[in-house]
Amino acid sequence: MQTKSWEELNHKLLVAKKYIETIIDSISTGIFTTGPNGYIKTINRTASEILGLSQEEVLGVNVSEIIEKWESIQQSVSNKTTYLEEEAFIKGQKGRIHCILSAYPIIESEQYKYEGIVCTINEIKSVRNLANKVMGKQALYTFDKIIGKNKEFSKLLNYAKQISNSPSTVLITGESGTGKEVFAQSIHNESSRRNGPFVAINCGALPRDLIESELFGYEEGAFTGAIRGGRPGKFELADGGTLFLDEIGEMPIDMQTNLLRVLEKGKLFRIGGNREIEVDVRIIAATNRDLQRDTEDGYFRKDLFYRLNVLPLKLLPLRNRKDDIPLLIDYFIKMKSLKLGKTPISLSSELIDKMVSDPWQGNIRELENTIERIINAPNSDLWQITETTKDEVIITMDESLEAIEKAHIEKIIDKCEGNISTTAEILGIGRNTLYRKIKKYSIVVLK
Ligand SMILES: Nc1ncnc2c1ncn2[C@@H]1O[C@H](COP(=O)(O)OP(=O)(O)OP(=O)(O)O)[C@@H](O)[C@H]1O
Ligand SMILES: [Mg+2]
Repeated sequence: MQTKSWEELNHKLLVAKKYIETIIDSISTGIFTTGPNGYIKTINRTASEILGLSQEEVLGVNVSEIIEKWESIQQSVSNKTTYLEEEAFIKGQKGRIHCILSAYPIIESEQYKYEGIVCTINEIKSVRNLANKVMGKQALYTFDKIIGKNKEFSKLLNYAKQISNSPSTVLITGESGTGKEVFAQSIHNESSRRNGPFVAINCGALPRDLIESELFGYEEGAFTGAIRGGRPGKFELADGGTLFLDEIGEMPIDMQTNLLRVLEKGKLFRIGGNREIEVDVRIIAATNRDLQRDTEDGYFRKDLFYRLNVLPLKLLPLRNRKDDIPLLIDYFIKMKSLKLGKTPISLSSELIDKMVSDPWQGNIRELENTIERIINAPNSDLWQITETTKDEVIITMDESLEAIEKAHIEKIIDKCEGNISTTAEILGIGRNTLYRKIKKYSIVVLK
């Protein structure tokens, strides 16, 4: 009788143990425990997958052989300080693995004795994928959403699809509002990296000191104000995916040198760091500048230009694909009506003809904003603001294109009473582009 209940108890214990093991193994975080001297005692399936070692192989191994700077982790844990979500590097079978690690002491409750450590590890890659999904920082455009049937444009579209899956760098050029970002996102979504991150950085919008830390990240203590534990840069965040270097032509020349080095080696150092970090990133760069000319003028490094311009993609301005304008008008009317909760309207053929012959300096974005303005107030003629002001610009034979642009910007700024956002919207250019032009032409903005 006695024996039976002992067997029963033993059986129950085994079942309970199996339950716990199954639970621990089904968690997508790596977990392992060590004894007081750092020898691994138990490990779950995820941790053994991260390390690339079977559960049997890893038992009895000392963690200090696997985790870099383990001594300092062990020290802070045995001092009973918490060790939460710190960055760590693990020597895996296939190379160095970048992880987020937490460690908790196992304290025996009766004599309050330190028995060992429980560690949880997550690969940074999977943490980032999750963060990207939740934050919605994703590429939204796909090729099937790109509107255009113009012959030249279709050729470009086919070429862009063809090169999507290549690891080579793409350089997208084209005037403001021609769809550079739309193409960059579509290329990413067409490539095998589509489930990886799409990370964008606007080199024209950041002050030069910030570009470096944004791109390459920094280590703890790299400069005053550096956050504890350091921070990864966009290159690391884009690991396994695509990095979109927007307005690359605005990158300061010394930063161009650093960028070239990383592109050539596929490895980087964070600012203030001495650990080399390997990254697998596909680069798509974009600019509305003539980079070739910039290299001749000494503003852009020639070697970087050639390194970026492996697969050139030159987008057409709207005035060179006028046959697509009615298609785009149709598309934007449907889209904007839906967005604004209005019934789609149809435009008179005169108006469509007028729009087809408009030079659309701000390209697709300007057309898009004009349609949005019409849908908002179909009976007002305020949307014509760009047209009327354009007519007011007196063009004389000796006036350069730049002088005309300056005068036009000044007029619109004046009409918008110095409101930069509205001015940029009407001109169909980004705010940063507008700020750059204001600086370039020394335009005084009065509010
Ligand atoms: N072929 C297209 N089909 C549909 N919409 C498009 C197309 N190309 C561009 N657009 C629209 O035009 C807008 C501007 O495109 P995008 O932001 O890609 O231009 P850009 O070339 O990056 O301009 P900038 O140089 O000012 O940054 C987008 O918001 C998008 O809605
Ligand atoms: Mg852009």
